[in-house]
Amino acid sequence: MRTKLAAGNWKMNGLKAALSELGEMAAAASGPAEVLICPPVTLVAAAADAAEGLAIGGQDCHAKASGAHTGDVSAAMLADAGAEYVILGHSERRTDHDEHDEDVRAKCEAAWDAGLKVVLCVGESLEEREASNTLDIIGGQLAKSIPDGATGHNLVVAYEPIWAIGTGKVPTTDQIGEVHDFMRARLEKRFGEGVGRSVRLLYGGSVKPSNAGEIFAVSNVDGALVGGASLKAADFVPIIEALN
Ligand code: G3P
Repeated sequence: MRTKLAAGNWKMNGLKAALSELGEMAAAASGPAEVLICPPVTLVAAAADAAEGLAIGGQDCHAKASGAHTGDVSAAMLADAGAEYVILGHSERRTDHDEHDEDVRAKCEAAWDAGLKVVLCVGESLEEREASNTLDIIGGQLAKSIPDGATGHNLVVAYEPIWAIGTGKVPTTDQIGEVHDFMRARLEKRFGEGVGRSVRLLYGGSVKPSNAGEIFAVSNVDGALVGGASLKAADFVPIIEALN
């Protein structure tokens, strides 16, 4: 049985005052679902210290363990600050920083070397969806972004259709189910039934309290990776509760 996971990606939002939201989120984490918050890197250490019961994560890490990479953050630094997870391959980084599957794979290996669990993001563009290329795109990203050695402990996969991120648009439950069933099958084929069935699959893209329940009822959806609705406890707690 896979533990459900409600993950919040704060993106480039949140100053120290935002830490006050974590108390109510931590209280909601007393249920069966695991709750992960990925704040800006400037808040990781403070969040890890403050939020008893929450898992804390980073939003990216460098592929190297250390060195002359001004402005970058290593996986070891995130772990040292108290992070347990790191989001990798988010479409906003693939776009803003020209990250390719091979870059994501190298970062994933660095994260695992530092003992971090990875939330690996995949997803298609609207053009790719409209051209009926979604499963080809997702299949390629899974194959090229995930290194050998994945387990149900060190890997979570988040399906985030790019056209649903921040737009209020959400795929139909049939569309979500098709992709999640496909991802499950591909993971089982590559890593065997044991690992393939233990990796948690999250849906992300305009998840709100109003739609979380029906999304979580879809096959092979083990939780959500939430952006905007994870910034405030008033919005994120109902999503956590819909998962419990
Ligand atoms: O990583 C989660 C994010 O991309 C989804 O954003 O605001 O549509 O929930 P949002």
